[in-house]
Order: sequence, then structure tokens, then C-alpha cells
Amino acid sequence: MTEPIRPTGPAHEGPGGPARAFPAGPAHAFPGGPALFHLDPRVAHLNHGSFGAVPIPVQEAQAALRAELHADPDAFFIAVPERLAEARTRIASHLGADPDGIAFIANATEGANLALDAVPLADGDEILVTDHGYGTVVAAAARRAPVTTVALDPHLPDEDAVRETVLAALTPRTRVAVLDHVSSPTARTIASPRLLADLRERGVTTVVDGAHAVGMLADPLAGGADFWFGNLHKWGYAPSGSAVLAVAPQHRHRIRALVPSWEDQHGFPRSVENRATADYTGWLAAPEGLDLLERLDAAKVRAHNSALAAHGAALLAELPGLTPLPHGEALAMRTLRLPAGLADTPDRARELRELIAAEQGIRVLIWPWPGGGGIRVCGQIYNRPEEYERLAAVLPSYLSRA
Ligand SMILES: Cc1ncc(COP(=O)(O)O)c(C=O)c1O
Repeated sequence: MTEPIRPTGPAHEGPGGPARAFPAGPAHAFPGGPALFHLDPRVAHLNHGSFGAVPIPVQEAQAALRAELHADPDAFFIAVPERLAEARTRIASHLGADPDGIAFIANATEGANLALDAVPLADGDEILVTDHGYGTVVAAAARRAPVTTVALDPHLPDEDAVRETVLAALTPRTRVAVLDHVSSPTARTIASPRLLADLRERGVTTVVDGAHAVGMLADPLAGGADFWFGNLHKWGYAPSGSAVLAVAPQHRHRIRALVPSWEDQHGFPRSVENRATADYTGWLAAPEGLDLLERLDAAKVRAHNSALAAHGAALLAELPGLTPLPHGEALAMRTLRLPAGLADTPDRARELRELIAAEQGIRVLIWPWPGGGGIRVCGQIYNRPEEYERLAAVLPSYLSRA
């Protein structure tokens, strides 16, 4: 965030016109939520989904680990494998995972590459992706084999319609399906447990992008994909650069570190986690993020975040030209289509996003889509209802530029 941030005015002021009445939303911020973060108070941070935000206690835990590292580097690095095993076990227990079946990785993008590298493919085999898939994950698939891209109408009413559309796109050459657990631009659940079971039955290997699952969904590993990866640094309150890859037992022996390491002979997960002389403090502090979520009451946090995002989406849905997209479950991200001409291309979407940030001090995702992009709002424990009201008040002046 390099642009100057203009201090923002009271909730209902702005080029959107006179103060308006808004439907009632959640009445309060999450008790104690905002104080847990060092976020710039001049900014309405409505885009938790892109990069997350690290709570202060987790930042402090990581800072303490860094201090330890710099006080005695030899002692610190020698103990890293054992400490990682302990941290991995704590993460596994939060996720209900087999501690031998998950590995720390840097991010979802790395998870996609590790998983796809481990899938045996022959000439002529194809990988199925959807047009809601995240760019770097789709690129990992395309690097590995020819991809078939399923177009999923963002207005498909429910999970069943999504499932049927994906299954109808399978060809006799489809060996692998790479599916979002919760998609980034459209905030849709695509890899439902039923779709994963249907794919398994048809002999298709499933790779699930759970970038948004940990901390947003009650049971992120439900569904039993062959390969699943998820960020801890988005909704799991962990330091940036922390994620996990979960691999079903029958595939673990084929996982190969992307860069050869000193621990290759130990196999998954240690081979993947060894990064030579790197900063391991984020992974070691990651359990503190999930512990904090538990202490706050994860179910309460999820309900709060979802209600806030729904409140924001309801306000935006009242604006002319904005169309809400269906959402299957109570998620902490909601999206609406924008009028045609506003964010049809990546450049136009980025320009609009940065303009709103610079002029209004509001951080919100604007995503490109042919025929009219979209806007996504997120809810998190540091957000307050007034922040969405401010966005709804100023957005009309940007819509009229379409
Ligand atoms: C659905 C989805 N997949 C993958 C990613 C990539 O995550 P990372 O930048 O941690 O690799 C994102 C990031 O926002 C995402 O939303």
C-alpha cells in the first residue's frame, strides 16, 4: 500500500450524496477485535481475503522467535526440525488432520505446484480447472498438462448446479480436477464433499485449493481430497508465508520438494519443510494464530465475520447496477457484479480499486470479469458495520463513471 491515504470523514459523508438510512446489520464490532491488530485506523480494511492480517499476539510470538534466532543461530537452526514437528502436530490437531499427512509450505501457490508435481500423468492426459480458479494455481496446472477450463456461470444457484456443470465437463482424458474450496473472486464453494466423491468415483484425482478455508469453514478438510492446500495466513491469523499441504496416504511417497533439501531422505513432510537457511519463525508461530482463534471462539468469529460480510453485501445490493452473486454457505466474503464497462479488464479493475483506496481510504477487492467485473467485501473481527456503510455511500460516484 504505497499510495497516500486520505483521512476519512464520518460514516455517511462522501460523493455518494446525502446521508441515507441503511438496513440494520450486526450492531457492534467483535468485542476486543480491533484492538488485536495494528491496522491503520484511517483505512477501512474490507479485503481480509487477499492477504489476511496478523494479530498482535501472533506478531509478538514471531518476534520472540526471531530474537531467539538472532541470539544463537546455531542452537536455533539445529532445533528447527523438532520444533517444526511440534508446531505441525499442533496445527494438525486444530484441523483434525493426520500429523504425518500435512506439511508446512509458504503459501497456496506453492501447494498447487507440489501437489500437481506429484500426480502421475501420461501424454494426452488433461487437467480440469474452472474459470473461478486463482491465477497462480491455474498456471501451475497449465505448466503440468493441457487444461480444460469449465465456465461456471457466477449466478448458478447452488452447489448442486456447480457440481453438475463440473461433472458435465469431464472428458475421457480428464485425470485431475483442480477446484477451489472457496473461490477468490466469486466466494463460491466449488469443491463440495459430494462433488469430490463423484470425481473419486470416476477415477479423477482431486486437488483442492483451500486458500480461504482455514478459519472460514468449520471443517476445512471435510471432503477428503487427494491433495488439499490451505493458507493459515488468511483466516487462520498466522504469520504471512504460512500454509499447509495435506496429502492422502496413497500419494505421500510421490511428493517431492520443489528444491532438493538435506531432509529428502526423510520423505514427506520433512523433505518439503526443509528450506536450508530460511526464516522458519512464521511456521513456528503459526499455531499461535489458530490457538487465538480457538480462544476467541472460532464459531463465534465465523458467525460474526459472515454476518458483517452479509451486511456489507446487502448495502451494496441496494445500489443501482450491482447484482449480488449467490452464496451457498455463511461465508466471510460476499461478492456482487459491477455494471459493464467498469472493471472488465485487470487494468481497469486495478485502477478502480486503487482509486477507491487513495480517495476514500477503503480497501476492497475489485475483480475483473468479461462483461463487467465484481466487488468483494470481507468481514473480520476488526471490522465495524459503519465501514461498509461508508463504502455504500461513496460507491455510486464511481459507478457513474462506467
Ligand atoms: C482461492 C485462492 N487460491 C490461491 C491464492 C494464492 O494464495 P497465496 O498468495 O498465499 O499463494 C489465493 C490468494 O488470494 C486465493 O484466493
